[in-house]
Amino acid sequence: MCGIIGYAGCRPAVPVVTEGLHRLEYRGYDSAGVAFVRDRSFCVIRAKGRLSALEEKLAAVQTATSTCAMGHTRWATHGVPAERNAHPHCSNDNSLAIVHNGIIENFQELKAELAEKGYVFHSETDTEVLVNLIAECRKDEPELLRAFAAALRRAHGAYAVCLMERNAPDTFYAARMSAPLIFGVGTGENFAASDIPAFLHYTRKVIFLDDGDIVQATAKEYNMFRLEDLEPVAHEPQTVLWDMQAAQKSGYKHYMLKEIFEQPRVMTEALAGRISEQGDTVLLPELDNLPAPARLYIVACGTSWHSALWGRHLLEDWARVPVQVELASEFRHRDNFLFKKDEMVLVISQSGETADTLAALRIAKERGATVIGLCNVIGSSIAREAAAVLYTRAGPEISVASTKAMCSQMLMLALLALYWQARRHNPDESSRCPPRRQWISALVSLPPMLGDALSAMHETARRLSRKYAQARNFFYLGRGHCFPLALEGALKLKELSYIHAEGYAAGEMKHGPIALIDSAFPTFAIALDDPLFPKTKSNIMEVQARQGKVIALTNGETDLAADDVWTIPRLPSPLAGFVVLPALQLFSYEMADYLGKDVDQPRNLAKSVTVE
Ligand code: M6R
Repeated sequence: MCGIIGYAGCRPAVPVVTEGLHRLEYRGYDSAGVAFVRDRSFCVIRAKGRLSALEEKLAAVQTATSTCAMGHTRWATHGVPAERNAHPHCSNDNSLAIVHNGIIENFQELKAELAEKGYVFHSETDTEVLVNLIAECRKDEPELLRAFAAALRRAHGAYAVCLMERNAPDTFYAARMSAPLIFGVGTGENFAASDIPAFLHYTRKVIFLDDGDIVQATAKEYNMFRLEDLEPVAHEPQTVLWDMQAAQKSGYKHYMLKEIFEQPRVMTEALAGRISEQGDTVLLPELDNLPAPARLYIVACGTSWHSALWGRHLLEDWARVPVQVELASEFRHRDNFLFKKDEMVLVISQSGETADTLAALRIAKERGATVIGLCNVIGSSIAREAAAVLYTRAGPEISVASTKAMCSQMLMLALLALYWQARRHNPDESSRCPPRRQWISALVSLPPMLGDALSAMHETARRLSRKYAQARNFFYLGRGHCFPLALEGALKLKELSYIHAEGYAAGEMKHGPIALIDSAFPTFAIALDDPLFPKTKSNIMEVQARQGKVIALTNGETDLAADDVWTIPRLPSPLAGFVVLPALQLFSYEMADYLGKDVDQPRNLAKSVTVE
């Protein structure tokens, strides 16, 4: 999704802003631009494509004297990716310039109203409507802060915006409503951006703006107000503990590879302080004030939804909590959910900003549910709006394809299942619940085990990717807790390498999909050495009987006669998923890299999907 940055300080602003845009690249974009004031008029430079195209244009422009600027990376929503639609956009009288992330839902109506008044539009964007609306409001409210607030009050939808004025070239304004915006408090300089890495090089002091906050900032001071009535608001800055090193590639070819290899550390972080000294109890004090639910709904999108499907097995088997998993984009448009008092909703989101998941959280709250969040990004909207939040502590995930975040979500779901198992202790059921101490100790032994295995797995993934790189289609099959992993394997392959891939419950193959199998349509089967193995083995044989090639991912001394048998270290199911997951990730990574795809920023994708 779009990235925005505003800067006011003592340095040449344009390099600060373009550097910030590079740090926001991971969000996905198709054009970019910057604006600053020079010689009493706006200088707006925009380019379609990568930031290098913008930088080429900037090289020919005198930028050094400006110490206040704003920049934008655009992920097209209204209007094709083109220079005319790229931000910043200026008002008709060139007195104002704006950058915007989000969608103004009533922009057509506002555009018609402004057109009647004689405004003309040079782009198809909702953003150009907004900047002209501010100019129009200024006719009644000469003070820009008031005009800005008046216009925003008329805009429905989601936005994070930065605004500058030609006649006050050292000041920027910013506002937030349902889209991420973080304020950075520096020494003699201030920032506002869609994400912390955009300015982390300059300051670690941040303010997570709330929906309905509006800010006026110069190099020396900033003032925050409530959009509703322009009453001042005071937010205490917080200190970010991670540094740029955590958000950089550290010698890996891609962020994705780095993030796959970080998974052992991520698991260690997630476990830290969450196991009792005796090793028999999971500690989640964030949830101690909430009763364990009689039924749980888990709502999420994409990879986080796959984590939810995987976690359901553990929550049902270990904690005996019945679980219903919902796609946030579907859940938010169904009105048949009325929650009982002892039911609970868990929303899972790496970014904590996914529009559908955030909307689902709000709807669930309106309908009386207690909502807990499982998030990676500290201070994100979901984290702040949930009744309680469990942080996954995976650190910044830069690659658009989610990897370590899923590993950390799975770990947290396993901990949650063990935590609720203890809280729900029911003597009639306890004999059916697997012993906690055994699972806790297995979880603790995961990080070193995975750390030792990753390099060899990477090698196998590389070899197999070369062998199967010609395939245009792939099936991923799994049963039980491996079915969500099959879905995730297929998602990773398609989003990174653009090879069509489908994840299926292995038992469903013969109900239709098997018709597609031939010698050019390979199958990646997850066939672990567990009670479901004989059934998955039969499904593999059915595929082979139709000339389908099979990669079988297994973890035991199995008698599989697949075309390629990939043996990974043995772990008791369902924890074997923690080794299956990186195998699937590495295979997709190697496939995409071998095919020359843009691994960290696949086409058409955005890291944080902040539109519906
Ligand atoms: O930030 P979230 O976990 O809410 O994001 C959900 C999905 O947008 C995300 O997992 C997406 O599917 C990724 N591209 C997967 O790699």
